[in-house]
This record gives sequence, structure tokens and C-alpha cells, in this order.
Amino acid sequence: MFAKEEINYYQKNRPKSREIWQKALKVLPGGISHNIRTFGLPLIGAFPIFINSANGPYLKDIDDNKYIDCWNGHFAMILGHNPPEVQKLLKEFLTHGWHFGTNTEYQVNLAEAIIKGNPGIEKIRFCVSGTEATMYASRLARAYTNRKLVAKAQMGWHGANDTLYYDVGGIFDGEGPPGLPNAKEAGILTFEINNEHTFDMINKNSDNLAAIILEPVLGGGGGFPVEKEFLKRLREETKRYGILLIYDEVITGYRFTDALFQNELNVIPDLTTMGKIIGGGMPIGAVGGRMEIIEQSSPEVENQVLIGGGTFSGYPLSMVAGLKTLEILNDSQQQYQRINQEGNKLLNNLNQLFREEKLPIIAKGHKSIIMLHALSKWIENPSMLEIIKFKDKKREALLQLSLFNRNVSGLHGLGSISMAHTHNHIVKIQEIVEEIAHPVSQSKFG
Ligand SMILES: Cc1ncc(COP(=O)(O)O)c(C=O)c1O
Repeated sequence: MFAKEEINYYQKNRPKSREIWQKALKVLPGGISHNIRTFGLPLIGAFPIFINSANGPYLKDIDDNKYIDCWNGHFAMILGHNPPEVQKLLKEFLTHGWHFGTNTEYQVNLAEAIIKGNPGIEKIRFCVSGTEATMYASRLARAYTNRKLVAKAQMGWHGANDTLYYDVGGIFDGEGPPGLPNAKEAGILTFEINNEHTFDMINKNSDNLAAIILEPVLGGGGGFPVEKEFLKRLREETKRYGILLIYDEVITGYRFTDALFQNELNVIPDLTTMGKIIGGGMPIGAVGGRMEIIEQSSPEVENQVLIGGGTFSGYPLSMVAGLKTLEILNDSQQQYQRINQEGNKLLNNLNQLFREEKLPIIAKGHKSIIMLHALSKWIENPSMLEIIKFKDKKREALLQLSLFNRNVSGLHGLGSISMAHTHNHIVKIQEIVEEIAHPVSQSKFG
């Protein structure tokens, strides 16, 4: 009953989105340009919203519904949407033209800013997406070590490049997705985060392993933090065997403090991939790290490792928006502290409710990152693999839709808290999740 009423209410209030969705299905495969932007809603007979404006903590859809937004442009908009200082700069910049296909001083300035705040980054190469950055990092590692294998974390999301699109969802059987070879042929191994057996895998493959790549908090995988002790041990073992350690900090970079997360962890990798926040909401990716590894990509060296053609690499608007954003973040210590605390509190409060009421929902995340998983049954303290195994995608879609009905937008449940969210926004989000948690948990789909 709840599900039916929610779906009816959702559809009634979104006639324009419904109309555009019908058109979208005719011209875009599945109606979308990014797999997760259906929000899972077609699974329960609904359609996604179409947004036409955003400001501060809010999104507005084409039917004039306004949402407190927790998705924040795939985590990129840590300042909230449309921050005035960045908008002003971009407007000014547009009067000079925006795509030159040449070098600009802006990419030097952004590189300097990132290098200055992060001892693990001695040089950096810009590209347009995190997907490219992680592909390039893997290639650099293979070239530097002259080894073939790359090991990635189970459920680690590094973009859909050919190199790392393995074990990104569901239970992995070693097969590649259609169009890609199986993991063995592709030279990809996978490992479970926070699991001792990972070190056996490293030991066994130490002669052929070029790199280990992982996110310090699994983002696309569902908000699973990697334990510091595990990272420390990874660092020790990779050093011992001459394997490169790569952190994918596309989400965690500048998310918890005004620097890469590796500094706070005090476990520094050889290479780091970046994106999202460092572009201030414009398309960006970057790979940085130890000088001699990155330097392999210089056209000046013999046997250059070819990474980063890219018509739009170092895109001027991304460079200026990114630099302005990092400047603002540099002055935002209190704001970081505030959103980190709000995130922790929200996660703990929600999990307390889910636990006490034995509801098959669990919140996962770290500081300002917060995601919700809806499961098919209540499990006490489920592991990451249990969460993946018992995920109830329809229930998760209903959760998402019920949030939209109450003017909260999110993905993976919620997503993250931005600096534009006030305490009242967070209280409201908590109340809404609490309100829908019971009926969503009781809803059954055939
Ligand atoms: C950790 C991580 N790495 C890489 C990527 C891919 O980045 P992009 O979407 O910019 O290609 C993402 C995107 O969500 C990500 O979360």
C-alpha cells in the first residue's frame, strides 16, 4: 500500500519529468547518460526527475519541486550549488573565451596549489575525468614496474575504463563485463578491504604485481571506509615488494579537510588520482604522485608513457573553478569540522534507529559521506559482502523515491553533506529518513 501510494504521489507531481523521460527513452539507451542516474526508479515502475536549476543546498526539477540535495553532483559540489564566488569568476572568464587547446597559466596555478598542500604529490597531470585518471595511473604503474598485474579492491569504483571495470557490483566471478576480457586476461586481481587474506594475495603475486589501487573510503561501492591499519600494512607490503600503491582520491580528496585524505591518514601512496572537488564542479581528473613515476609521461623522456591526449585536458574553466574552490576551502576549517560532525552524527543516529527497530537498512560512510543500503532482511552488523549480497534494489528504489516525495534528493540513499547545508537541513533529513524507514522496510515487491 505504502509503495503504491508513494509511486502514485511521485508520478502525479512530476508530469513534465514523465514526459521528458518518455522522450529520453527513445534517444538515450535506458534514458540516461550515466548508469546510476535512473536512481533505480524504473525498477518500481517510476522514472527519474529532470533537474533544471540548483542553488546552495537545493535542486529544482522541471515540475518546480525543490529538494534538499545530498547528491551534490556526484560529491563534487562540496560548497553547495552555484557558489557565488565561483560563479562570478566563471562569468568573467567566459568573456575571454573558454577553450584554447593550448597551455594556460591556470593549470600551472592549480597544479601548484595541489602540490603545495600535499607532500605526496610532486607532479601532477590533468585530464578531464576520474575515469581517465585511474586508467593512466594503472598504465604508469605497469610501465614503471615493468609488471603486468594490477590489484583493485572489490567494489572499488574507478570509472568505467577498460582497465579497472572489474568487480564493481554484485558478486564477482572473474568474468569481465560484455566487451571486456575476463579479469585474468586483463591482468586484474581483486581483494577485499580490511581483510588479512589480501596480504596472502600480495605475497603470492609479488613478482608480477605492478600496483594496488583502492579508494580510502569506497564511494561508488557504498561508503565503506578502509581501516587505517589495513592501509598502513598495504603500504609496508607494497614497499617491500616494489609494488606501487595508488589511492583513488577522486571522492576523498578535499572532502574531509582542505587536502587529500592521505595526509590525515598519514599513509602516503606512490600515485594518487583526483577529480570532482578539485574542478569546482567543472569536468576534471588528475593523476599525481612521486616525481620519477609521473615524469615518465613527459614528452621529454625517452620511452615516454603515453597518457593524456585529451582535447579538453587542463580545461580552462575547470582550472579556474577548481582553484577558486580550493582557495575557499583553504579558509573553511570550521566548515569542514561542522559537516564532518554533522555527517558522523546523522550516520550514528540513523544506524541506532535501524538497529533498535531491526530495520533492514544500514547507513555507511565516513564523516560527511553518508549512504544508505536497503537489504532484503535484517542482519546485525553486516559485512560489506553481506550488504552487497542481500541488497534489495527495489526497496532501495522505494527509499529513494520516498525521499524525493519529501523533497530530499540523494543517490546511494543520500550521498554527502555540503557546506551549504545548515544544521536544520540535517535535522530535517534525519526526520524524513526516520519517517520512511519503517514503511519502506515493510514494503515487499514480488
Ligand atoms: C573514486 C572514484 N574514482 C573514479 C571515478 C570516475 O570519475 P569520473 O566520473 O570523473 O570519470 C569516480 C566517479 O564517481 C569515483 O568515485
